[in-house]
Amino acid sequence: MTTGVPTFKLNTGAEFSGVALGCYGGFTPEEIAQSKNWFLTALKAGYRTFDTAQIYGTEGTLGAAIKESGIPREEVKIVTKLPWHRCQYIERSFNESLTNLGFDYVDLYLLHFPQAVSYPTGYDIPTDAETTIKSLRAFLEKPSFNDNWAVLEKLYESGKAKAIGVSNFSIKTLEALAKTAKITPAANQVEISPYCAQEDLVEYCKQKGILVMAYSPSGHEKVRKDPTIVRLAEKYNVSANQLIMAWHVARGVLPVPKSADPERQKQNITLPKLSPEDVAEITGLDKNERIVNKPDENGVLYGWTMEQYGWA
Ligand SMILES: NC(=O)c1ccc[n+]([C@@H]2O[C@H](COP(=O)([O-])OP(=O)(O)OC[C@H]3O[C@@H](n4cnc5c(N)ncnc54)[C@H](OP(=O)(O)O)[C@@H]3O)[C@@H](O)[C@H]2O)c1
Repeated sequence: MTTGVPTFKLNTGAEFSGVALGCYGGFTPEEIAQSKNWFLTALKAGYRTFDTAQIYGTEGTLGAAIKESGIPREEVKIVTKLPWHRCQYIERSFNESLTNLGFDYVDLYLLHFPQAVSYPTGYDIPTDAETTIKSLRAFLEKPSFNDNWAVLEKLYESGKAKAIGVSNFSIKTLEALAKTAKITPAANQVEISPYCAQEDLVEYCKQKGILVMAYSPSGHEKVRKDPTIVRLAEKYNVSANQLIMAWHVARGVLPVPKSADPERQKQNITLPKLSPEDVAEITGLDKNERIVNKPDENGVLYGWTMEQYGWA
């Protein structure tokens, strides 16, 4: 059990502990191998929800850490994601994720991005964002996210994905998805930090029963050093990261902080209860500024404009 955090209920009825460990820690083989150690310390600290993705390369180390921990599989929630360049063979990709994890189901399977992309043969996992862009073969019209969702619905019906959801979707793309979806996404994982509070999207998802998960939830050093964050962290006698995680939880958003450090891992699940005024003050820092997945000088991110994403 996590300390100081609530659980969040999905529209499937499943309960996820309210802070998940982010499982991306770098693309090199050494970084990926090393991740098993910090997954183990996180399990020991009490984390029970883990957010990985096929593209992070950490499904294998996560599965191995869970087995080594001795914690029963059913006590842990595993989230993983379909890479955008594997939309033409979703079932195969999903089964590879299960093989990597060494388990026969995942608790939540997400479309990592709304768009579909094709890479040149033999160039499966990009090493960094710039190489990703350079190595793109094409942005595909087909399959669309509506097509991809229909395949995820089948995975859900098979019982191998206990819940299905999306990532990097906006109100605009969620509305377009709803036109063909038989199943409402259980979750939408998006970038949210005090500088990118996404009030409208959070409210929309609440109304539709879609759990919002916040990635890059701290906003990194830029937000941690904001004077308001520093002042309020002092007021509650916690670190900036703890304050920000408490803000997410108070808004009904499940944050996905990554930490490889055992002490910071503990901090991130030991949260103060914030007053409504302080929650509102932190939300007031919003400037719609994305720290991680932001547009380039041409207003484009991974081939899509902000308008295509519905982020404008
Ligand atoms: N769906 C998507 O498209 C998408 C995109 C990006 C990320 N994600 C998910 O979001 C997760 C987190 O993303 P992120 O790493 O960008 O964001 P983050 O968790 O907000 O930031 C991680 C950074 O904060 C540091 N940190 C963690 N706890 C701290 C604390 N208590 N005090 C001070 N520093 C602390 C970490 O260092 P240490 O490790 O040294 O503690 C690391 O440098 C990823 O692992 C992934 O699961 C999803």
